[in-house]
Amino acid sequence: MNKVVITDHPLIQHKLTLMRKTSTGSKDFRELLTEITMLMGYEVTKDLQLRDVEIETPIQKTMAKELDGKKLAIVPILRAGIGMVDGFISLIPAAKVGHIGLYRDPETCEPVEYYCKLPQDIGEREVFLVDPMLATGGSATAAIELLRARGAKNIRMINLVAAPEGIAAVHEKYPEVNIYVASVDEKLNDHKYIVPGLGDAGDRLFGTK
Ligand code: PRP
Ligand code: URA
Repeated sequence: MNKVVITDHPLIQHKLTLMRKTSTGSKDFRELLTEITMLMGYEVTKDLQLRDVEIETPIQKTMAKELDGKKLAIVPILRAGIGMVDGFISLIPAAKVGHIGLYRDPETCEPVEYYCKLPQDIGEREVFLVDPMLATGGSATAAIELLRARGAKNIRMINLVAAPEGIAAVHEKYPEVNIYVASVDEKLNDHKYIVPGLGDAGDRLFGTK
């Protein structure tokens, strides 16, 4: 059964409020997204497996824990997902990075694929699919479909802001994909933008509007 984890730590909520404000410019928006991603990373990586290893401290030999060497992949949905890569990479530097290029057609709001480059062994990796916005869920389900078609089995999705409609769409098609999100907002507006949301994440990140 699909799980939705809301990462509502006060620091995340405070930084998200700053990101929502129209007056926040691209530089701050980018920095805040990286900071929030790192804070969310704590919750998202909580169930990674550990193993026991023997190490030597300056005092004596002891048993300690290390990550079980499970292979990970971070896959941003372009463009806005790029804003969440640095935060994750700084936590898990050994992860490989794949890219899925999708944009929403302005008329239909349906996702259009324009790029897909994934690690060859994606089927053996735990995939962290990242995108700040989960609106209708069209882009997310298209990305999961691409990942599945290339053999990915374990996928978790990490968003900053989600609409209930987007969560329901991913739930319905991929009940096994867990979703981590900093906020579930109220709804979508007539243009399929998240309300209250933060506007167009890609444009705000890259200053294209
Ligand atoms: C945004 C966002 C998601 C998508 C969410 O990307 O980053 O990928 O919309 O909407 P959906 O859930 O209704 O599919 P956009 O298509 O604006 O492309 P961009 O990141 O290149 O700006
Ligand atoms: N894409 C965005 O960037 N923002 C929204 O609110 C919806 C889709």
